Amino acid sequence: MDSFHYSELLLTHLPKGAFLTVAADGKVNTMTIGWGSIGHYWNKPIAMVMVRYSRYTYELIEKADSFTISLPLQSDLKKELSIAGSKSGRDIDKLAQLQLKAQAAKKIPSPVIEQCDLFYECRIVYKQPIDPEHLDPQIKQACYAQGDYHVLYHGEILASYLK
Ligand SMILES: Cc1cc2nc3c(=O)[nH]c(=O)nc-3n(C[C@H](O)[C@H](O)[C@H](O)COP(=O)(O)O)c2cc1C
Repeated sequence: MDSFHYSELLLTHLPKGAFLTVAADGKVNTMTIGWGSIGHYWNKPIAMVMVRYSRYTYELIEKADSFTISLPLQSDLKKELSIAGSKSGRDIDKLAQLQLKAQAAKKIPSPVIEQCDLFYECRIVYKQPIDPEHLDPQIKQACYAQGDYHVLYHGEILASYLK
């Protein structure tokens, strides 16, 4: 099954929250994401996630070459998504506290979240800090009033699968 069979599922469920999980430096952290995209460029299936500079995930992903996206389709992980989206891995071990199990990925070092149903394993092929000079002023005002911009990470989808 190729990656695009699941793209509609990803785009439908992403706004409800997904787990972006990164392993680096012997540490694993997960955070909730709601924005992202999926596409086909450089002759590859690509998923793109957006991480603000203030996140602990930013520190980790800068040292990593991969990330995973795990989506709960059936399971109710609202509480876990809410906490993973408000507490920082700098302060707590989110996986341990939320009893989320890191399951080894098939193709990359960053693990997936076992309790989820749909998984994307991505190898980072390009990163792109948002350039405020080139951004629509309304978006700048609405999303970046504090100056905490996103870095966009484009990952080649090496595996995508449903549980
Ligand atoms: C529904 C939801 C969606 C979110 N989407 C993003 C996102 O796409 N990018 C981002 O940088 N932060 C996003 N956040 C905020 C982070 O998940 C939050 O700041 C988290 O505590 C960061 O964790 P970390 O410091 O362990 O990386 C979202 C939060 C929620 C609740």
